Amino acid sequence: MNVHQNIKLIDGKATSARVLAEVREQVLALREAGIQPGLAVVLVGSDAASQVYVRNKVLRAEEVGIRSLEHRLGADTDEQTLLALVQRLNADPSVNGILVQLPLPPHIDEHRVLQAVSPLKDVDGFHSANVGGLAQGRDVLTPCTPSGCMRLLRDACGDLRGKHAVVVGRSNIVGKPMAALLLQADCTVTVVHSRSRDLPALCRQADILVAAAGKPRLIGADWLKPGAVVIDVGINRIEEDGRSRLVGDVDFAAALPLAAAITPVPGGVGPMTIAYLMKNTLLALDLQQQAALARPSQEHAPCLSLC
Ligand code: GUN
Repeated sequence: MNVHQNIKLIDGKATSARVLAEVREQVLALREAGIQPGLAVVLVGSDAASQVYVRNKVLRAEEVGIRSLEHRLGADTDEQTLLALVQRLNADPSVNGILVQLPLPPHIDEHRVLQAVSPLKDVDGFHSANVGGLAQGRDVLTPCTPSGCMRLLRDACGDLRGKHAVVVGRSNIVGKPMAALLLQADCTVTVVHSRSRDLPALCRQADILVAAAGKPRLIGADWLKPGAVVIDVGINRIEEDGRSRLVGDVDFAAALPLAAAITPVPGGVGPMTIAYLMKNTLLALDLQQQAALARPSQEHAPCLSLC
């Protein structure tokens, strides 16, 4: 975190570099034991933003020593073909993590595909077994962006217990899992969305404000309690003064004087998502190893069908 005009700028780039360094060290230790973690990234179609995200995920994996397998399928790929690929990856012992980049083309049932990913390889934490496990406070794979936000919040605030966190947005990828993670950290949690009444008044109650609405500069100074910690998940491309630029869901210039700490866009939450994808790949490997130990081995298992 940097002191910036008397307020603290939450530096996601620096924190993600620390997370990636931790991952790299763990990968080196695994290599000593003859294990190389593998991450499969599946992209269907040619959505421009998704192509950039997938390229970055694959590059980052290689940088930390995780073997990455990129599967690019045409936009006209049918659901059965995609499901068959997911099943192959589920069965492949060299693949520890599977990520199917969203959005999928409209003719493919996203829910069916995400449910086909083995929950132990589900590095996105999108399978309902992991969503339910998170809601129950169990140790499961959790979505990368909210997990990265939690790391930034823990570093910025220390103890989160009893703080009032307001999450703006209720998506399955960010808003809902973010609320569950904050609840697990003993925050008092309010989730607000486009149909909430008097959004600024609700947000002004927040000690911690997490903006994940996907609306450029939605949150202005009058939405913030002085001293709030602000996590801006939004990445919105806008045209301004004849230039294309990235802005968050928070009006950064307006929020800066009020917030105790705030993430910039870019350079805040964005780099944390990929870092936590790498961390989740190692966690998935660990869960798979634990599951293998817990399974009775074939030779010693009682023959249930015959005995
Ligand atoms: N598309 C946008 N964000 C995400 C994400 O976190 N995971 C996947 N799989 N697709 C996305």
